[in-house]
Amino acid sequence: MGKTIGLIGGTGKIGQGLALRWGLARESVVIGSRKKEKASIISQQINGKIGEELVIPRTNAVCIEESEIIILTVPFEHLIDTITPITGLLTENHIIVDVTVPLKPFRKGKMVDVLSESELGAKSATELLRNHIPPEIPIVGAFKTISNTILLDTNRVPTLNQDIFIFGGNKSVKRVIRDKIKLIKFLKPVDSGNILSARHIEHFTAFLIGLNRRYKTHDCGFSVTGLIDKAW
Ligand SMILES: NC(=O)c1ccc[n+]([C@@H]2O[C@H](COP(=O)([O-])OP(=O)(O)OC[C@H]3O[C@@H](n4cnc5c(N)ncnc54)[C@H](OP(=O)(O)O)[C@@H]3O)[C@@H](O)[C@H]2O)c1
Repeated sequence: MGKTIGLIGGTGKIGQGLALRWGLARESVVIGSRKKEKASIISQQINGKIGEELVIPRTNAVCIEESEIIILTVPFEHLIDTITPITGLLTENHIIVDVTVPLKPFRKGKMVDVLSESELGAKSATELLRNHIPPEIPIVGAFKTISNTILLDTNRVPTLNQDIFIFGGNKSVKRVIRDKIKLIKFLKPVDSGNILSARHIEHFTAFLIGLNRRYKTHDCGFSVTGLIDKAW
């Protein structure tokens, strides 16, 4: 049996989008929340769309106990506060997937940016997280450049035709996440190197949000040309 996916803060926008897409691919996922009742309500809604009870509601702590792939889908400003009390539940059999982007609060009409190194305390959110998680527990980054709106809108399936940049130091761990991404039709996992790539990819997200605002859409994403179809 494959590793179970758990979404910490999975009741939110990107968490729901991923749960829905995996559910539609017949992959069961656990949705974690600070409040079990909130997780139950959201899971029920997603299961209604899937037509099967594949999304399982849990508290964040139980989500970690019942899943091996722990996807962190909380707002960046709450990332460290969320993970700190539950870090003791993590084992080296877990894989942490960081989805967060350390965006600066932005005003209408202004360029979107990410927090500077001095504001963040690291060169990227994923590197900051790495400093808070025991080194034996692998971390990869993924899903930082896909928008929740297209994940949630199943009527616009072709718009999902996007690359998902996966980065992290351990290739076999990245392959586990690659194979989970491949379950979702129209998403293309792209090996994007080690954790240092977070420094670029988090800026890509800020750039995409600027494009979305300029073009009055929520759908912008990446599909890199020239990538050969290489096994990795
Ligand atoms: N939205 C996107 O399209 C998108 C795309 C790529 C990456 N991301 C990244 O994914 C992360 C989540 O984004 P989102 O838009 O899904 O966020 P969100 O909907 O605002 O929040 C996600 C979940 O985080 C939990 N949460 C909220 N406030 C919290 C707090 N003070 N402490 C602990 N948990 C809290 C909530 O879960 P409970 O109340 O159930 O605990 C909430 O449902 C962000 O870091 C974002 O940069 C988002």
